[in-house]
This record gives sequence, structure tokens and C-alpha cells, in this order.
Amino acid sequence: MPYKLLFVCLGNICRSPAAENIMNHLVAEKGLSDRIICDSAGTSSYHIGSSPDRRMSIAATQKLGISLKGRARQFQKSDFRDFDLILAMDKDNYANILSLDSSGQYGEKVQLMCDFCSRHTLKEVPDPYYGGTEGFNRVIDLLVDACEGLLNQVDSND
Ligand code: 4NP
Repeated sequence: MPYKLLFVCLGNICRSPAAENIMNHLVAEKGLSDRIICDSAGTSSYHIGSSPDRRMSIAATQKLGISLKGRARQFQKSDFRDFDLILAMDKDNYANILSLDSSGQYGEKVQLMCDFCSRHTLKEVPDPYYGGTEGFNRVIDLLVDACEGLLNQVDSND
């Protein structure tokens, strides 16, 4: 059975689709695409069905040469069952995800993305939506760091 990762932010158009696509890129480079599966979701319903934000896509293309694929969807309770690990971009996302765990049995599956960083000390991936280009570039740098740490951990666990 492949290991399933779900990246979660607020809108599912900036941070979490970038995380999903960066992780897929690193997973493919390591030849692990049949063993690790990535998806993303938002805690809100604001942008359901939308493509990734153009500013986020430009940053991903310029910095990493990758395009961002996918359409926004909202996090749903069945995701607790369907995924092995759920990565929240910030503490609000983390709290909003856990508020849907009425049984209280999935807490260990939910973790903060920045806990996997080794080069950056920020504890959250900042919401870039209302800011400028620099915020989107910073999200990419943070996510590469976190995704590398996450991949090392997942790869060493199975
Ligand atoms: P994301 O960014 O959570 O990284 O996808 C945002 C996207 C949309 C909004 C906020 C953050 N919004 O308020 O519509």
C-alpha cells in the first residue's frame, strides 16, 4: 500500500498545492512515485474547484521549474481515514483540522509542516495571499526545506 500524504492550508490555492507539487517532484526524483501519494485540501470552501493561484505558480516555475497541478477541494472528515499523514501549513489550519476530529482518534496523524524543516526556523508557512511576490518566493523556500525533511522521514519509515 502506498503511503498517503495530505497537505492542508486555508484556500488550497497557494501553500498546499505548492507543497503537494513540490513533494511530488522530490518523490519522482527519488523514484518513489509508486510508494508515496500526495494530495492537498483547504479548510475553507472559498476556492473549491479553482486552479492554483497564478502568483504561486509563477514562483514555483521560476524557482524550481515545476508547474502546479490540481483543483482546490475542501478538507473532509473522511480524509482522516484516507491519509496516513496530514500536514497543516499553519496553526489555524492545524486547529481547524483537529476541530473536525470529533472522535479524537486522529491527532497523531496531523502535524505542522514546518516541524520537518531543518534550515528554516519559522514555525508556520505564512499565508502569502494578501502580500507581494516575496511572500510567494519565501513559501517555496520553506516548502522545499520541509518537503525534504518529510521525504527523508517517510522514506526511512518503510
Ligand atoms: P492558501 O492561501 O491558504 O495558501 O491557499 C489563501 C488563499 C485564499 C485566501 C486566503 C489564503 N482567501 O482568503 O481567499
